[in-house]
Amino acid sequence: MPIDVAKVRADTPGVGNILHFNNAGAALPPRSVVSTAVRHLEREAEIGGYEAEQEAHGRLEAVYASIARLLNCDASEVAVIENATRAWDMAFYSLPLRKGDRILTAMAEYASNYIAFLQAAKTKGVEIVVVPNDNHGQIDVAALSRMIDERTKLIAITHVPTNGGLVNPAAAVGRVARRAGVPFLLDACQSAGQMPLDVEVIGCDMLSATGRKFLRGPRGTGFLYVRKSILEKLEPAFLDLHAATWTSKDSYKLRPDARRFENWETNIAAKLGLGTAVDYALALGLGDIRSRVVSLAGSLRRRLADIPGVSVKDLGAEKCGIVTFTYEGREPEKMRTQLRAKRINAWISGPSSTRLDMEDRQIPMLVRSSVHYYNTEQEILRFCEVVRSL
Ligand SMILES: Cc1ncc(COP(=O)(O)O)c(C=O)c1O
Repeated sequence: MPIDVAKVRADTPGVGNILHFNNAGAALPPRSVVSTAVRHLEREAEIGGYEAEQEAHGRLEAVYASIARLLNCDASEVAVIENATRAWDMAFYSLPLRKGDRILTAMAEYASNYIAFLQAAKTKGVEIVVVPNDNHGQIDVAALSRMIDERTKLIAITHVPTNGGLVNPAAAVGRVARRAGVPFLLDACQSAGQMPLDVEVIGCDMLSATGRKFLRGPRGTGFLYVRKSILEKLEPAFLDLHAATWTSKDSYKLRPDARRFENWETNIAAKLGLGTAVDYALALGLGDIRSRVVSLAGSLRRRLADIPGVSVKDLGAEKCGIVTFTYEGREPEKMRTQLRAKRINAWISGPSSTRLDMEDRQIPMLVRSSVHYYNTEQEILRFCEVVRSL
């Protein structure tokens, strides 16, 4: 069913204030997400935080079930963690990597992940190997396949980068990883909420995502999926009394499920809000969400490309809702400020977020205008009119 745009806009108070093309930063949440979180905060004030959590027990468990539906996995394979980076870290730092082991990654890798690779190179002596792009500017899957050897202990790539519309061919990477028997960690931070994500189709063993971006959840929420078969072999780098039980003076026992990657204290209100956001996306249907997002982004790219001096920068055979561009003679940062003055939200992205890619393409900075299904063609027209006038 096509998305009922009038309905989703009526559910989204923010669209009345702002033309929001910063969905890759943080999308505007639906009213129901806000009220879920606020209602729980009120309940904490009314009856006490611990007691409010007990009262919400069933709804908190349902958050895991919702994320499991979103990813087509079991709820026991889901950990709710405060953001995508920590979720990713909890998986990465629990892998038993040793000197000489190789990590295969791709050109679009996100800075925080790459910094963790560099740290593992420094502290453990692992080797980072970057798989080149193919002619579309996405990871070259044939090259990946050739580059795997017996020392390869991890394939870790970003599905959709922070700096462009590229959708890396995650399922093709997953097939290579499975054939080689190498664990596959997917950063799905920017893809979650704007397209279907099925861990069986993708074939990843671990997947991290955030709540606030295309899923439209509250800030400070994220989650990690870890496949059951690998989960049982991973000892998280940090443990607490939620992740493990202190069983005797000299022993502890890890939780059997993915919640071994969580910690005890968390923002319950935001977690409940995340569950509402996931349910909202599931009710609309991720396939229909993708169709509309891809169509709006395609229109935005075409119209931007019509402006003399504008150069659209998105790579990939398949593209998503993130639209990036430069405009000859205009500083991206200044453009962001000028757009903001006209109540238009867009963002910028530079090499410190995706250094391999930005240095390779010699792009010092670009404007990132990311659309969601609640945006409209009229907003695209207005955005382009304002950009043209800058
Ligand atoms: C591709 C990618 N991975 C990871 C992150 C980090 O997400 P978080 O801020 O939720 O930790 C981002 C944030 O922009 C991102 O774009």
